[in-house]
Amino acid sequence: MISVKTANSDTTLVCDLSRDIKETARKRNAVILAHNYQIAEIQDIADFVGDSLGLSQQAAMTDAETIVFCGVHFMAETAAILCPQKRVLIPDLDAGCSLAASIDLEQLKAWKREHPDAVVVSYVNTTAAIKAESDYCCTSGNALKVVQSIPDDKEILFLPDQFLGSWCQKMTGRKNMHIWMGECHVHAAVHPSKIDEMTQKHPKAELLIHPECGCLTPYLDRVCRTQGTTDNLKVASTEGMIRRANESEAKEFVVATEIGILHRLEKENPNKTFYPISSEMSCQFMKMITLEKLHRSLTDDVFHVNVPEEISNRARKSIDRMISIF
Ligand code: 13P
Ligand code: SF4
Repeated sequence: MISVKTANSDTTLVCDLSRDIKETARKRNAVILAHNYQIAEIQDIADFVGDSLGLSQQAAMTDAETIVFCGVHFMAETAAILCPQKRVLIPDLDAGCSLAASIDLEQLKAWKREHPDAVVVSYVNTTAAIKAESDYCCTSGNALKVVQSIPDDKEILFLPDQFLGSWCQKMTGRKNMHIWMGECHVHAAVHPSKIDEMTQKHPKAELLIHPECGCLTPYLDRVCRTQGTTDNLKVASTEGMIRRANESEAKEFVVATEIGILHRLEKENPNKTFYPISSEMSCQFMKMITLEKLHRSLTDDVFHVNVPEEISNRARKSIDRMISIF
């Protein structure tokens, strides 16, 4: 068993471990998928790094026998729903999500009873059981398009993220949309005053804001007037932020989302500077996945993520409806 010191880890040891992971993945015909918030070493070793939408698309199209999901549990579950014949592994079963935990099945059923004709749109940050009770799934990368695709006269129950929901409501001008008051503890914690503070400190910087951010609220009117992008502010999923940073003429960016994304932003844009809106925006669940655990996952064949067939079949319909919009 190869062990790794987490802080100031020996580069040679990390290289050996990374090489061993790659070799084991190849022998086992396994693909390594990693979310944009993963630690740098995991992103560097992954076959694909992306946002929730990109990762679910990659899972759906891979030929590999095994998918090792370096992200949080609902993401691995989504891969298991999309690929019921494949083995889906997560290196740490405790990698959860505070947002996904903000609604349970009984709460959703009760909400649906109050609005029996409503269309249920669930953010991908939900459990398989919630997806199975939903009409549509959506991610931050396509939530607007999903909401826009639903006929105007249909009531919508949008869950569980209140900030993403408000953003969609404002952008679409939809009046008949009910929003669940859930939130992600990482994105909700940033106070709007942080935006003023950082833009004053870096007046030339462009602002990249994830729609789960609580700090977005006072800016909604301004952002909606220009359909999501003002001169120096862009609301986007994590992959949308990477695209924007790659394409923009700006040389500096203030980034309002989990700090793991800075690794890719900096790697793909070595001549640009990225400032986290707050260095405390770190998701402890995403950070649970380490090289050592990934290595163990591949060698010991742990931990399997399985979704019961009946739930999986119903949940797949809501994800397929989302994917078919594109
Ligand atoms: P993205 O789909 O934008 O990558 O976001 C996932 C997530 O968990 C945000 O907190
Ligand atoms: Fe969940 Fe928030 Fe972590 Fe994203 S950053 S995985 S929404 S807890």
